[in-house]
Amino acid sequence: MIRRFQIAILSILLLASLGVEPVHAEAGEDAWLRYAPLERVERAQYESLPTSVVVLADSVVLKSAQEEVIRGVKGMLDEALLSRKGVEARSIVLGTLTSLRAAAPGLPPPPDTLGTDGFWLLTGKIRGLDCLIVTSDTDRGVLYGVFALLRKVARGEDIALLNEVQQPSAALRWVDQWDNLNGTIERGYAGASIFFEKESVRGDLTRAGEYARLLASIGVNGCSINNVNADPRIIDDKFLPQLARVADVFRSWGIQLAVSVDLGSPQVLRSLNTFDPLDPRVIAWWRTKVDKIYQQIPDFGGFVVKADSEGRSGPSSYGRTPADAANVIARALKAHGGVLFYRAFVYDHHLDWRNPKNDRARAAYDIFHPLDGKFTDNVVVQIKYGPIDFQAREPVSPLFAGMRNVNQGIEFQITQEYTGQQRHLCFLPTMWKEVLDFDLHVNGDHTPVRDLVVGKVFHRPAGAFVGVANVGMNPNWLGHPLALANLYGFGRLAWNPNLSAATIAQEWARLTFGDDSVVVNTVTAMLLASWHTYENYTGPLGAQTLTDILGSHYGPGIESSERNGWGQWHRADNQGIGMDRTAATGTGFVAQYPPAIRDLYESVQTTPDELLLFFHHVPYTYRLHSGKTVIQYIYDSHYEGADQAAEFVRQWQSIKHRLSDHLYTDVLTRIDYQAGHAIVWRDAICNWFLRTSGIPDEKHRVGNHPERIEAEAMQLKGYAVVEVTPWENASGGKGIACAKNSTCTASFHSDRPAGTYDIDVQYFDQNNGESKFRVFVNDLKVDEWVANDHLPATKPGGDSSTRRRVSALALRPEDEIRIEGTPSGDERAPLDYVELHASTK
Ligand code: GCU
Repeated sequence: MIRRFQIAILSILLLASLGVEPVHAEAGEDAWLRYAPLERVERAQYESLPTSVVVLADSVVLKSAQEEVIRGVKGMLDEALLSRKGVEARSIVLGTLTSLRAAAPGLPPPPDTLGTDGFWLLTGKIRGLDCLIVTSDTDRGVLYGVFALLRKVARGEDIALLNEVQQPSAALRWVDQWDNLNGTIERGYAGASIFFEKESVRGDLTRAGEYARLLASIGVNGCSINNVNADPRIIDDKFLPQLARVADVFRSWGIQLAVSVDLGSPQVLRSLNTFDPLDPRVIAWWRTKVDKIYQQIPDFGGFVVKADSEGRSGPSSYGRTPADAANVIARALKAHGGVLFYRAFVYDHHLDWRNPKNDRARAAYDIFHPLDGKFTDNVVVQIKYGPIDFQAREPVSPLFAGMRNVNQGIEFQITQEYTGQQRHLCFLPTMWKEVLDFDLHVNGDHTPVRDLVVGKVFHRPAGAFVGVANVGMNPNWLGHPLALANLYGFGRLAWNPNLSAATIAQEWARLTFGDDSVVVNTVTAMLLASWHTYENYTGPLGAQTLTDILGSHYGPGIESSERNGWGQWHRADNQGIGMDRTAATGTGFVAQYPPAIRDLYESVQTTPDELLLFFHHVPYTYRLHSGKTVIQYIYDSHYEGADQAAEFVRQWQSIKHRLSDHLYTDVLTRIDYQAGHAIVWRDAICNWFLRTSGIPDEKHRVGNHPERIEAEAMQLKGYAVVEVTPWENASGGKGIACAKNSTCTASFHSDRPAGTYDIDVQYFDQNNGESKFRVFVNDLKVDEWVANDHLPATKPGGDSSTRRRVSALALRPEDEIRIEGTPSGDERAPLDYVELHASTK
């Protein structure tokens, strides 16, 4: 203990002598609300900040706002603000415009309308005293103003003379959680539910309260807490008091509680023998149910509905439309001011893949466009950003342009289901920005998606942003410390879609890691490069993420999308690749867009390269606008992507001494894994396309790995060769697995000149065992580890393939390298290959 203390003191002295202060950011529970102390120089500009805070009325939301100001100022400026009832000295004053007018009748009107959630920050005189005022039409708006003010201080901005109004772009800014009552989360990658356990709401809702604070800080005002594949019990009368407990912890942060409901509820909960939305008994059932909910939760937000989709029950069972179903429930909600989000993610997952005219991408528009004007005005049709399903690259959904008389909401996915499941760094605001900025040219006008979804273009009463967040009990909410930038970015874009991805990335890095500009710039650069990098090594030219569609949605699974009814086809064969979605010869999907966009995508010449294969089937030798052939692009982009992933490791290593050990190691482990997994992706895709097309890589990389020694070519004792399915997910299509219950060995001699090498051991880490590995050079043990990660895999393959690097080993050609594997459970200490690289150290 004493020794550890001495080492700590020594390190601090050493860093101080180098003039470097480590950034003590753990990026944990506090996320971007750390309120880290400002540097003395920056702090100086806030010396004249008032020393007391006054709240002009009593409310739980204003109380949160007041406590937040005190907490933030204490953390960043080390000043303990005094809490006062009235303005007797220079103060930070928090209150609605009405209460402010009463306190300061001479105050000018705000320079702009504030709307429900907008706020006004100003420096002004109250009773002749200079005050810093945060005001709004509503308490919630004041809370948002407080967070904005604190953000300014955290970023060292001048607040001496403020007169700024901000209004959110969309009235409804919600997150959805896909939590199940048993505490699991569908597509959640950061631990158990913060809301539910053992079929009930958790006894301890501390984390739910902390989550509400995080959401409020980015302007989110609603949260639906359960899986869209809804368990009907969520609105059982017995369950309502439990929901009321969640609403209680949300309330002080201005977050409205909502839940997803199953349309079959009247029947499943055994009240009726039908759930036909137009049956008068069903109509009455929903009305009574909604009334009961509002009796217990007067500020309840509303419902989310997924129906007739992926096996969920829906109005089609009775020949009714989504509008019929939505309106019945929405009318019941309307009496109380609630809203209904009806998801447009409705499609047939038993499509006949043999029919070239079938196309899942068409479904949302085909079903919902004819219903334009048929929904009541408290319904929001919630539309995924692309026509398929949260892929790393899709065109924007044409439905945004196709419904003029309905409120719309855009659905993004913060949880990285198809974008690396928080094991890969993938900053999604870069992609969301492209979607939001995309001009759909409705009526030939400038109509970017961001204006359509907030109701500006068609003058709708409401518009919405919805982010599927799926945070969990993991201390840092999303698992990967850098993934929190996605949650932050969602909220910031929902508030202001005109912000750039770079601004958001930098803001988040600064709030999270403090004001070390080297750290902020490095993290910002990594974030901004990460989505393109991920796209590069996982899916080419709009063919979608070539992942395992039928299983994990994680590792490569190129053919899993083909020859089945799910409709995520890319139609790659030995001649070419891509879906023909043109009006002339294909599925006709392009005709769903307004004319300018239809024409753009109809022609293979004008379709942008990054979406070519979404709209057209072309031969591998087709030349892109860049002049490259499609096949060479596939090879090159996958190599570039994997190289860029390796670069993230170097970038992170370059700021090691500026970070706390915990944070440094946590992120390093993840991005190092990512760099290894990017190679698995690269090789799977490149090898598959090489074999399928028969066209070699001009640069001779694909299929040539002189630095690689296949496990099946080593000298094996106890190990047996196993075929891996699909073949491209293991090098050479094969691996080895220990056939016995005791230790097995695989050994080889390096045939390289004497030198210092890094050894990469590619092994398979399944979640059904914890095998042990040991590496020896002759008789010297140089590394050992336990394969105890919980990757989504029970067999050797692209989901489980993992890299372990043993660095800087001095090797001579006569040295024997031996890997010992000890199986555990159903995991047979499986290995794929070993690579020797001249050491970089
Ligand atoms: C994806 C996801 C499902 C989810 C669905 C949805 O398909 O894999 O788990 O239920 O989206 O958005 O409803």
